[in-house]
Amino acid sequence: MSYQSFDVTPISGALGAEVHGIDLSIPLSKQTFEEVHEALLDNLVIFFRDQDLTPEQQLSFARRFGGIHLHPYMKGLDDHPEVLAIIKEKDDTRTFGASWHVDQMFTEKPAMGAMLYAKELPPAGGDTLYANMYLAYDALSEGMKDMLTNVKTFAVGDRFKRLGGQSRKDVYKGVSVMANHVKDPGDVKTENEHPLVRTHPETGRKALFIGGHVQRFAGMTDEESAPLLNYLKAHTVRPEFTCRFGWKPGSLAFWDNRCTQHFAVGDYNGSRREMHRVTIQGDRPV
Ligand code: OGA
Ligand code: MN
Repeated sequence: MSYQSFDVTPISGALGAEVHGIDLSIPLSKQTFEEVHEALLDNLVIFFRDQDLTPEQQLSFARRFGGIHLHPYMKGLDDHPEVLAIIKEKDDTRTFGASWHVDQMFTEKPAMGAMLYAKELPPAGGDTLYANMYLAYDALSEGMKDMLTNVKTFAVGDRFKRLGGQSRKDVYKGVSVMANHVKDPGDVKTENEHPLVRTHPETGRKALFIGGHVQRFAGMTDEESAPLLNYLKAHTVRPEFTCRFGWKPGSLAFWDNRCTQHFAVGDYNGSRREMHRVTIQGDRPV
């Protein structure tokens, strides 16, 4: 695929590409916007380098793709509530996002995508991994695809079994700023069922829709769910379905949350990392 407005260089054989030649601080022309959208659908996650963005400029770029999704549990910046600061301080021992997940999969309409912008990075480490959920689906046998057709997952937004049922506030004690930003979700429904195999609303391709928030299959017990669920969680992130992005200050990643999972690598204790995330509203998965 070639684009008129910029160059696109894939970073792995599975997904992910760097887009060169765009300044995201200025409003994109209609054609450039359409090509960015196309590059996202083609590559699942796209990366921009050397950007210099205010929260307002990052929001303007994001709004071209849809309304802004507010995290039910996490407060945004005081002056820009739609921008979430993801910060790990030097003395923190935990990393936000350090498990394979789909953003806010526990909501009724999980995000269409998210834009993460790097403000401050450790001298080394702090990469983010992404995995291609179309490839993960395609690689299953026909027998398994048939069996999974009508399966639904049950996802929760807090007190994950994997973490012994602790609350977010307790889990985040090791990421001080994030712990301070946890809020009560109020009336937002934070436990939801979704199809395990979803059809991407724009590409029409089937993808496995699974991530760390999934506790079990809907209508089944933990014990019944565990063997196949654990198999699928491991299968979806086989190395050949993934890419790894090394950040620099000013890098911006834009991922399609409907056909990917991601993982924040927590290998930089002793250094500070600060990112700004803006999340775009999604549809109800079908
Ligand atoms: C997120 C997330 C990854 C990272 O912002 O949703 O998972 O590398 N972050 O910080
Ligand atoms: Mn995330």
